[in-house]
Amino acid sequence: MKNQPVIEIKNLYKSFGQTRVLNDFNLTLFKGENLVLMGKSGSGKSVLIKCLVGLMDFDKGSIKVLGKDISNIKQSELDELRTDIGFLFQGSALYDSMTVRENLEFPLRRHQNDSESKTKARVEEALENVGLPQTIDLMPAELSGGMQRRIALARALILKPKIIIYDEPTTGLDPITAKEIILLMMNIQKKYATSSLIITHDVDCARVISNRMILLLDGKDYIQGTFNELALSEDPKIKAFFK
Ligand SMILES: Nc1ncnc2c1ncn2[C@@H]1O[C@H](COP(=O)(O)OP(=O)(O)O)[C@@H](O)[C@H]1O
Ligand SMILES: [Mg+2]
Repeated sequence: MKNQPVIEIKNLYKSFGQTRVLNDFNLTLFKGENLVLMGKSGSGKSVLIKCLVGLMDFDKGSIKVLGKDISNIKQSELDELRTDIGFLFQGSALYDSMTVRENLEFPLRRHQNDSESKTKARVEEALENVGLPQTIDLMPAELSGGMQRRIALARALILKPKIIIYDEPTTGLDPITAKEIILLMMNIQKKYATSSLIITHDVDCARVISNRMILLLDGKDYIQGTFNELALSEDPKIKAFFK
């Protein structure tokens, strides 16, 4: 049970013209773990995520999500699989013209056929989870950056995804707010036993949250290991990330 993979990426290749972005990249996310993916900007992290959720084709290799080979499934199966994956995009990406409640209802109305009372209860639970029940009728513009990020997290979790992908969850936040978001991510992970893939440059975030790490470098999974194993490496290319 412990070592059940939920995402398996094997020997992945992706080029744009002459530029090879992914060059034999491998990653396995196991059930219940927090895996941190680090890589410089432009190293292919977003390309990888797009391949992973079927938004971009890749040249070679294989990707399995929850046991399904994503290059060999129907569009309807892919759509269903996507509801098992929650995203926290870089920035909060809330809908500006909708209240907090409407932002949270959005994925439910799209993917679920719940009664009004159940929808209301799920929105309230999601807000409780991020400690912001009092914001339910506010507009995003009335919230601080940290609060917006927490609402975005609540929205990413509202469909109770099995996997959650965080793209730079602490970027752009002050250190105290960043720490709050990390604690929240850890609590949520404990409460719902989600499996998380966390893309971050934030060494403090990686130290606190990661069970395991992968460095994306030269298109490869250059090194995989625990935070300490990576941080103690003598390889200058690896050391550069921990300065
Ligand atoms: N649709 C595209 N067409 C051509 N080049 C792309 C495309 N998407 C990404 N790239 C290139 O792939 C590389 C990796 O980009 P990206 O995955 O966005 O990096 P990051 O690690 O910062 O998320 C960059 O050199 C980028 O210019
Ligand atoms: Mg990116």
